[in-house]
Amino acid sequence: MTQSRNSDIFCRTVALAALSVSTLASPALADVVTYVSGAPAKDIQVLKDIVKPWEEATGHTLEFTAMPASTTDSFGQYRLWLAAGNSDIDIYETDVIWAPQLADHFVDLSDAAADVAGTHFPSIIESQTVDGKLVALPLFTDAPALYYRKDLLEKHGAEVPATWEQLTATAQQIQTAERAAGHEDLWGFVWQGNAYEGLTCDGLEWVKSFGGGQIVEPDGTISVNNPHAVAALELAKTWIGTISPEGVLAYQEEDSRGVWQTGNAVFMRNWPYAYSLGDSDDSAVKGKFGVVPLPSGGSSDSSAATLGGWNLAVSKYSKNTEAAVSLALFLTSPEAQKRRALELSRLPTIVSLYDDADIDAQQPIIPKWKDIFLQAVPRPSAPTKSKYNEVSAKFWSAVHDTLSGNGSAAENLELLEIELEEIKGNGW
Ligand code: GLC
Repeated sequence: MTQSRNSDIFCRTVALAALSVSTLASPALADVVTYVSGAPAKDIQVLKDIVKPWEEATGHTLEFTAMPASTTDSFGQYRLWLAAGNSDIDIYETDVIWAPQLADHFVDLSDAAADVAGTHFPSIIESQTVDGKLVALPLFTDAPALYYRKDLLEKHGAEVPATWEQLTATAQQIQTAERAAGHEDLWGFVWQGNAYEGLTCDGLEWVKSFGGGQIVEPDGTISVNNPHAVAALELAKTWIGTISPEGVLAYQEEDSRGVWQTGNAVFMRNWPYAYSLGDSDDSAVKGKFGVVPLPSGGSSDSSAATLGGWNLAVSKYSKNTEAAVSLALFLTSPEAQKRRALELSRLPTIVSLYDDADIDAQQPIIPKWKDIFLQAVPRPSAPTKSKYNEVSAKFWSAVHDTLSGNGSAAENLELLEIELEEIKGNGW
């Protein structure tokens, strides 16, 4: 996009922001709107840039506070602040899975977003709606990709893997050959194996793509203890110390990206944000990689991507509600989402941006990923409601134990089923 188109777009957005502020009850005072998020550094840099026209137009300012990168750790902190009615934080950047658990603490944005809600994908708005209340405005959506090194696959005459079994074999073949040729730090496959929400995402993908269901089904049935799920986890366990470093058991997204982006992995499972970063000038893999949907497994021929995504929620305890709502609307607008798409390869939640020529030209992963996120598997946060975090923690622990050699997949999933039945009690 050219500079002048950029500024045109901003003029329009700023005018809208100013208009919405001028129609509010008492816009005279300049507010400091506190915003918390655990997003990576580049996201924050872009946020601070995107917000400038809004600050100029309204006189308000954004004050950013960094949260832990792990969504699980941020959730723990958010929950403490919200339970205490903390009025220091106005806007929380929230994970797609949290709406049902945190709904009571946030302002209903239905009226404020009445004119724009229809521009977003309905399923995303629905995921942020709890008992008719719009809990948060969608910032971007997420669905992972299999990143692969084009150059290494070509060099070794290998195909892009369509199944997890093929990925295992290809990763091993290339890793062995490259190490023998002196590339000793090369690993076949990096992903997120730390005991946290990210492992729930990776684990769900293995289980679902093997035909093993989605832990708890949309009707509330606990399905995770089954032979397909066992086979999926047993295969993943073989990766530890072979094609994936032992250290992967402590990896989050940024750890796997670090190995990948320095050129030390053949394959990586990660979210689309790693696309623009991997393509940046200081990246060792710039121009050398491609992305495809994650592989399928076992006898199933369907791949599964976990649905992710982030949203903006306004705290019920905020003393700057009007300014905070105005900022949340501004940051989720088509113009801001376009900037995030172009600069961060974050997937927009606004339907029309998937036909945007600039995005198509500069971030080709985005139009390609539309069908993938639309078909992505949701984690069971809707059926398990306020118990989701506990359910997810039990699942990632069972997966982590299996990968670490603490019990077999069959034993750990049997135990997990009992624990989930206990959490469920008479109903979710
Ligand atoms: C990404 C996803 C989010 C998920 C997290 C797990 O940030 O967007 O939904 O919970 O990864 O680490």
